[in-house]
Amino acid sequence: MKQKIIENLSHDVAETWGEETARLRHSLHQNSLFSDDVLASLIERMPQAISPINTMAGSGHDAASWAYCDRSGLSGHEVLEAIKRGRLWINLQKLEEHDSRFEALLDEMYEELQASIPGFKPHRKSLGILISSPGAQVFYHADVPGQSLLQVRGEKQIHIYPANEPFLRPADLENVIRGVTEEEIRYDPTYDAHAEIYDLKAGDMLHWALNGPHRVTNGNCLNVSVTTEHWTAPIRRSYAMNYGNGVLRSELGWTPRSRAISGPAFWAKVALTAFWRKSGMQKKQSFKRIMQYRIDPNAPEGISSLSMGAAE
Ligand SMILES: [Fe+2]
Repeated sequence: MKQKIIENLSHDVAETWGEETARLRHSLHQNSLFSDDVLASLIERMPQAISPINTMAGSGHDAASWAYCDRSGLSGHEVLEAIKRGRLWINLQKLEEHDSRFEALLDEMYEELQASIPGFKPHRKSLGILISSPGAQVFYHADVPGQSLLQVRGEKQIHIYPANEPFLRPADLENVIRGVTEEEIRYDPTYDAHAEIYDLKAGDMLHWALNGPHRVTNGNCLNVSVTTEHWTAPIRRSYAMNYGNGVLRSELGWTPRSRAISGPAFWAKVALTAFWRKSGMQKKQSFKRIMQYRIDPNAPEGISSLSMGAAE
């Protein structure tokens, strides 16, 4: 019998899928698709626009230290060497559109999930690889679609916080969903007392509640993780509700009272969201990615400063 990718997907896990954190095991770390050579060739083939490299401070939570790095002209192995030495991460996104091996992997994973989770019907899904430096951290943030993290190489610790106030304010989530800010949201160290903390090693997998804020700290080793994203009908509705509420709050000065994802007020927000996106306002207001550094294989930390930030 063919080995499954996702293990121990019990009835209990299936029951609370998308609402509570699911801790699972997987077999991707035994797959040769995650060797340095395969990763280096992926880095070379993927356009920078969908494989950004970020750097960040080694300690603290200053989101201003979160910056983009240019890697044009460098080989995949040079980029990997810089990640091994520096404080960086590269996010190879939408691999299913660029490599049939990852497309097959994604399909297989979601077939397994759908076979075990009643009513789970994603209509869109995506797979990425996150390669990150020893000691690198990802600041407190929330993501828009449903998310899983599968640890393939190295060790990391992840804090996951409740997806409600004060940990996640509706206004902050609305801004993330509308792309006005990137994913950063307000963080207070006192939130940590309410966090679930997981130490992940190769073969560990987590799926958490929709929009659940989280932050990640790597162990002292190179980390390779697979991330998946998916959209279902309820996630799409939650997106439209938050988007509509964000337009009402920020653009029309009206404090939305309802977070319902059905009923007349909800459908009015769907219409408002469609209108706003079509009107071109979304593009005008969305976050612009600025390159502040260049990957430099000769620099001690793997990056050198760009004198002028260049918008991508
Ligand atoms: Fe995330």
